[in-house]
Amino acid sequence: MNGNATILVTGGAGYIGSHACVALLEAGYKIVVIDNLVNSSPLSMARVKAITRQDFAFIEGDICEARTLDALFKQYSIDAVMHFAGLKAVGESCSNPLLYYQNNVAGTLTLCKAMKAHGVGRIIFSSSATVYGEPHTVPIDESFPLQTTNPYGGSKKMVEDVFRDLAEADRLGDAEFWRVGLLRYFNPVGAHPSGMIGEAPNGVPNNLLPYMLQVALGKQPELTVYGDDYPTPDGTGVRDYIHVVDLVAGHVKALHFLLDENNASGCHTWNLGTGQGYSVLEMITAFEAATNVKVPYKIAPRRPGDIPACWAEPSKAQREINWQAEQNLAQMMKDSWHWQCQNPEGYDA
Ligand code: NAD
Ligand code: WQD
Repeated sequence: MNGNATILVTGGAGYIGSHACVALLEAGYKIVVIDNLVNSSPLSMARVKAITRQDFAFIEGDICEARTLDALFKQYSIDAVMHFAGLKAVGESCSNPLLYYQNNVAGTLTLCKAMKAHGVGRIIFSSSATVYGEPHTVPIDESFPLQTTNPYGGSKKMVEDVFRDLAEADRLGDAEFWRVGLLRYFNPVGAHPSGMIGEAPNGVPNNLLPYMLQVALGKQPELTVYGDDYPTPDGTGVRDYIHVVDLVAGHVKALHFLLDENNASGCHTWNLGTGQGYSVLEMITAFEAATNVKVPYKIAPRRPGDIPACWAEPSKAQREINWQAEQNLAQMMKDSWHWQCQNPEGYDA
């Protein structure tokens, strides 16, 4: 199935993209990476080559540049696209929505136009559980209503709408060009077991585990737990944390599905989560148990925009692409800590 297929990985120098590059190379695919390095380092590419002992083309470029994409599709025979390139900071999207719609939506439109012009119709898109907003209940399956509450989530839903409309236009025209996988990530955490690639947030992290890691390293004095008065078992927020290695394994399974001509064309949606929710306090306990490192914390009021609980009902991915998460919480903590200890300054060192 993968044979000599060549996959364009947009945003491949980033946290999830770099892990996907490892998974694709180890699955026998050829890859070409484009990344403008707005939120990553070229060192992650060198680390991917070291882990896999394989070479690949890296283009420092912006998916918003049509000429760059046209030249890339002319130079390389691309069979499918894994589309990670995007800005992902919820708070920044609220203060600068135009940047997020331009980069995430217009950038994807530019990519789709280049794909169409060069006859490439297979794409996997990095969507997010954030498109569900605050669900009426949990666990969440793919049929739940989409209701975004910030420009970042809005940009993800808009891109999903674009792909659904492209697939519908094909159906109406009796065409079968677009074969799309919309992957709705829950909360990716962890790092490759080698400790050579991982999440390297710029500045002070917003997300729980990267912040917890900085506390454990002594770079932050304590963790602030945002709210202990949610309607959850211990009052703190509950999320579905998924190991990044499991997440990218789901991408490879989705790619196999799209490359298999026996499968329907059109737009397919899969939740990528474990189906298990953990609270903030449970995350602290799990981290301390896995690493033997204490994480001092204080309780503070809820963070605006946070929802009480969010976890996946992941059986559709299991049924349709034969994927389910395998790594447990202890492994997520161990691998995160291993990466952080080996790279206290991320890729900056
Ligand atoms: P990341 O910031 O580490 O990776 C994104 C990469 O895309 C970066 O290397 C960045 O330089 C690149 N990029 C951004 N805009 C670009 C452009 N216009 N042209 C070329 N490259 C560009 O983020 P990540 O955590 O790896 O997330 C990857 C994708 O998954 C993003 O689209 C994100 O929205 C989505 N996602 C992430 C999470 C999460 O919690 N990490 C959850 C759900 C969805
Ligand atoms: C998890 C839990 C916080 C930090 C975000 C984006 C989402 C997606 C994944 C891109 C919550 C609590 C956190 C801290 C805390 N990203 N927390 N102290 O908010 O579920 O999702 O990342 O697609 O779009 O919204 O993840 O890690 O920020 O928070 O108590 O310092 O940890 O309240 O309950 P979130 P998170």
